[in-house]
Amino acid sequence: MPDTATQKRWRKPHNASAGSAKRAARQLRDFARVVPTGVASLATDLNARDHDCWIHSQRVQLLAMGIAARLNLPQDMIDDVGLAGALHDIGKIGVPAQLLRQGKPLSNDQYLQVMQHTVIGERLLSPMLGDRPSVLSAVRSHHERVDGNGLPDGLKSGDIPIVARIIAVADSVDAMTHQRPYRKRALTIELAIRELEKWAGSQFDEACVRVFVEWSGENLAERLVS
Ligand SMILES: [Fe+2]
Repeated sequence: MPDTATQKRWRKPHNASAGSAKRAARQLRDFARVVPTGVASLATDLNARDHDCWIHSQRVQLLAMGIAARLNLPQDMIDDVGLAGALHDIGKIGVPAQLLRQGKPLSNDQYLQVMQHTVIGERLLSPMLGDRPSVLSAVRSHHERVDGNGLPDGLKSGDIPIVARIIAVADSVDAMTHQRPYRKRALTIELAIRELEKWAGSQFDEACVRVFVEWSGENLAERLVS
């Protein structure tokens, strides 16, 4: 489990609006140096439309790469995990903004509309990332669940690409430990880990959860999530 300093840090509620515009602009510039122009411009659009989502994606990128490294994946796959982490929610550009900001629970139809961001993201990125198929499949499949009850394809366990299974854990950790429109109070890391462990094997890949929990105990994840 995390040490005392980590616990204190993660107990503090994270404010999703805290990411500065300056920091986001620097991250976008850095990002634009390593991706095709069209991809960079989609990221710029996402930041303009939903700044918090872009900042969240940056944290997911770092968390996901840490998990991938701890799973001993090869470097080219860790690179794909990083890019997929940064781009996993890019399809939210195509979702009505009022649904993304809605503070009250979504209706079933609204939820399905928001979840379309997976297929929209894959479609937007396909023309530019045809040489990175594992990034495209991770963007499409990051809301799949290992029990087959996820979206958009209801894939099960090993049929879900490993990059997507990693992003799912990183995405959930970050979502739980930061404020969101639908959750005003961020969870502590201890509670987030409890949730991950509770859903390991049904929502989440067990190996991905295990390495994240080990990592958080080493006080490394804290540096990336804060
Ligand atoms: Fe997503």
